Amino acid sequence: MIAKSLPRSPFHTARLTLRPTSVADAQKALEIQSDWDVARMLANATYPADREDMETWFASHAQEWAEGTAYRFAIEQEGRMIGVVDVDGIAAGAGSLGYWLERAAWGKGYAFEAAQALVEFAFSEVGLSSLVSGHAADNPASGHVLTKLGFTQLDSRELFSRSRGETILQARYTLTR
Ligand SMILES: CC(C)(COP(=O)(O)OP(=O)(O)OC[C@H]1O[C@@H](n2cnc3c(N)ncnc32)[C@H](O)[C@@H]1OP(=O)(O)O)[C@@H](O)C(=O)NCCC(=O)NCCS
Repeated sequence: MIAKSLPRSPFHTARLTLRPTSVADAQKALEIQSDWDVARMLANATYPADREDMETWFASHAQEWAEGTAYRFAIEQEGRMIGVVDVDGIAAGAGSLGYWLERAAWGKGYAFEAAQALVEFAFSEVGLSSLVSGHAADNPASGHVLTKLGFTQLDSRELFSRSRGETILQARYTLTR
């Protein structure tokens, strides 16, 4: 774990604000993950999305941040939360990048824009030396986001998807600083 205390401050990209999550974001997150086409791409999501699980998860984010194990941001566009981008599982200078957006926000380059800012944050502010990420084999949009960010594919592996309730094939990627 990298013991570094970073201020919980928002930052801006050309079109978006990335704001450290708060417990109040659980409601919007619940709405976003209630869309099967979002939930099925998230191996750790429950479907249907569960309010109590979501609130408990968001309530843990400040502690994760303080410990330096995960940094999670609400993605805001014109003052509205449209998704989440995060780096979690931080240990030994490495972390895992994740992102999910409400369906209405897809196809506008927002995932790339938010993830690009988070990669910069992870390397420059957190001081990580590498990132991993992964997507379900049937999620080409996410693969495109990762390759545009400069990630290269490591391998594919079988992974249990909680949302789908079955084992899926996941393509895994990595990016070094
Ligand atoms: C995956 C997801 C985050 C992509 O968000 P997005 O904002 O639409 O992505 P972007 O607009 O930044 O697109 C990035 C690239 O992917 C391409 N792309 C988008 N949808 C695509 C698709 N269905 N197939 C292939 N490429 C696609 C875009 O054209 C763009 O490339 P370009 O700039 O060269 O044109 C969004 O669809 C989502 O939230 N899905 C559900 C949750 C999820 O899958 N999260 C990731 C889990 S690994």
